[in-house]
Amino acid sequence: MDRNLALEAIRVTEAAALSCARLTGRGDEKAADQAAVDAMRRAFDALPIDGTVVIGEGERDEAPMLYIGEKVGSGGPKVDIALDPLEGTTICATGAPNALAVIAMADGGNLLHCPDTYMEKIAVGPVGKGVVDLNKTPTQNLQALAEAKRCNIEDLTVIILSRPRHEAIIKEVRQAGARIRLIGDGDVSAAIATTKPETGIDLLLGIGGAPEGVLAAAALRCVGGEFQGRLAPRNNEEIERAKKMGVSDIKKKFSIEELAAGDVMFAATGVTDGDYLDGVHFFPGGATTQSVVMRSKTRTIRIINATHYFDHKPNY
Ligand code: FBP
Repeated sequence: MDRNLALEAIRVTEAAALSCARLTGRGDEKAADQAAVDAMRRAFDALPIDGTVVIGEGERDEAPMLYIGEKVGSGGPKVDIALDPLEGTTICATGAPNALAVIAMADGGNLLHCPDTYMEKIAVGPVGKGVVDLNKTPTQNLQALAEAKRCNIEDLTVIILSRPRHEAIIKEVRQAGARIRLIGDGDVSAAIATTKPETGIDLLLGIGGAPEGVLAAAALRCVGGEFQGRLAPRNNEEIERAKKMGVSDIKKKFSIEELAAGDVMFAATGVTDGDYLDGVHFFPGGATTQSVVMRSKTRTIRIINATHYFDHKPNY
């Protein structure tokens, strides 16, 4: 994949973030999501790729734009795209931290195609690669990670979506002695936070969206971290949809390379201030954004601060 594409990709996530950030805290999840989708779709027109959305806003019949299978880009290398124009619609609508605009790109066929079901996940930064395993218990993973980090379990913080389905994991993590950060939404941001020591977050555990799992795996591939996932369908219909999309073994544990293979690129722009990225900050006539772009090939991580003037960007 062309290295210049990585910097171009930021324009796409910036456009989505700038657009939905206007609706931060306004209590309208749908409007915020729509603003992000519209802006991201427009921005794709200027991206020199022959892209196919493989993880998007939904199936063609339920999402008019950025649906699975949609072609995007102005022409160029063939790439598969995973995207979430607004990861954390409730976060944005309530003005909470860690909403992101996100895309990942890889050569065709290298991102897992999966429906909008759930996924059991474990994510950790580079120190935990080869150390943690989705098949181990939370206690075993915490012991192994504490050993790898040369610290006590009590020094570790696990980030978990606050959901009734996580009651048992939360109980076990507490019994093991680790601390917990419970979050309302946004497990892509949570997974990436495990790669940045300043966040104080060591490990992500629990079940979240499967599309978000592929996006998080792409990011962690780029930084040399670890991510493993197993689909957690809620019903037979989701199982059938997954099978149709090529997942023959529903109970399979996917490695990070199976979720995001080959040369992968990941880009995100903060919508609201968060652990990894600052959000959009408006000033009279413009706004600032903070984005990250990473590539698995070189493991370069670029944080890009940008100032945007709206008289030059009428679309925002
Ligand atoms: P949306 O942006 O689609 O609202 O997703 C937010 C999110 O919190 C994800 O980060 C997470 O993977 C998923 O929802 C969890 O799903 P649920 O809210 O159904 O538990």
